[in-house]
Amino acid sequence: MKSLAGKVAVVTGAGSGIGREVALELARGGARLALSDVNSESVAAVADQCRTLGAQVHEQRLDVADAAAVFEYADAVAGHFGAVNLVVNNAGVMHFGSVEETSLEQIRRVVDIDLWGVIHGTKAFLPHLIKSGDGHVVNISSVFGLFGIPTQSAYNAAKFAVRGFTETLRQEMLVAGHPVAVTCVHPGAIKTELAYRASIADGDRDAINDGFDRMARTTPQQAARTIVAGIRAGKPRILVGADARVLDKLVRLLGPHYQRPLAAMVKRLSAA
Ligand SMILES: NC(=O)c1ccc[n+]([C@@H]2O[C@H](COP(=O)([O-])OP(=O)(O)OC[C@H]3O[C@@H](n4cnc5c(N)ncnc54)[C@H](O)[C@@H]3O)[C@@H](O)[C@H]2O)c1
Repeated sequence: MKSLAGKVAVVTGAGSGIGREVALELARGGARLALSDVNSESVAAVADQCRTLGAQVHEQRLDVADAAAVFEYADAVAGHFGAVNLVVNNAGVMHFGSVEETSLEQIRRVVDIDLWGVIHGTKAFLPHLIKSGDGHVVNISSVFGLFGIPTQSAYNAAKFAVRGFTETLRQEMLVAGHPVAVTCVHPGAIKTELAYRASIADGDRDAINDGFDRMARTTPQQAARTIVAGIRAGKPRILVGADARVLDKLVRLLGPHYQRPLAAMVKRLSAA
């Protein structure tokens, strides 16, 4: 998908952060947009910003964890625009807490949104993308889909699974000869609201926010530019931010032995 002009692009979780900036970047590229978020006010504001840039926009409140709603939504978007070319399954939430202290409900919520939300969006839109003759699925994982880290078991589980699901889908599209590119995105720490909105089982809210603020060096605007450039280039994997690129190399270099030094570092940081 070298040109976005006139293409129909779907972005979930478009009301904030990376989703909002990807929507604006796609609007600048001339795409027609289907924007959704579980927060109807925030998606309405982003839809207006995209219209100001000249984009045609369909906006809707959508909970990606609700399978029936996502399938209905896919048909509504295809009916509205007549085709769908690009789906960015971006909506997500985060949770902080050890396996010991995190409840099953808290794990389920993360998996329902971060994994099932991606599966629902992919399955519901795939027939429309194949039919378009020029389709692209973009699933947002994380660097936490590349390595595990204490307090992130639920998020790690969902984001590793998104990676597996997405890499398999890419190969299946190649085997079947379907005209659908597939990309898995692994952002490092991006300055968004994600950590502030996270649920917490054990740990201190202020310390979590401070830690995230210190780590997050990439702006959502920079992240969106990297993601949209990667979409245009048809990349199978997009690493977002210098931290993601370094961590990816380190984990590949060390193999499973990354776990001891990482655990030691987390222990030192929590003591501080
Ligand atoms: N910010 C980071 O450091 C970072 C790093 C790696 C991956 N990511 C991933 O990027 C994606 C976007 O996150 P962000 O950082 O922009 O966070 P954000 O909190 O700013 O935006 C997430 C959006 O998703 C929406 N959302 C939450 N639950 C939803 C649901 N059930 N249905 C529909 N929408 C829902 C929220 O309302 C919000 O608008 C997420 O998948 C996140 O896991 C973020």
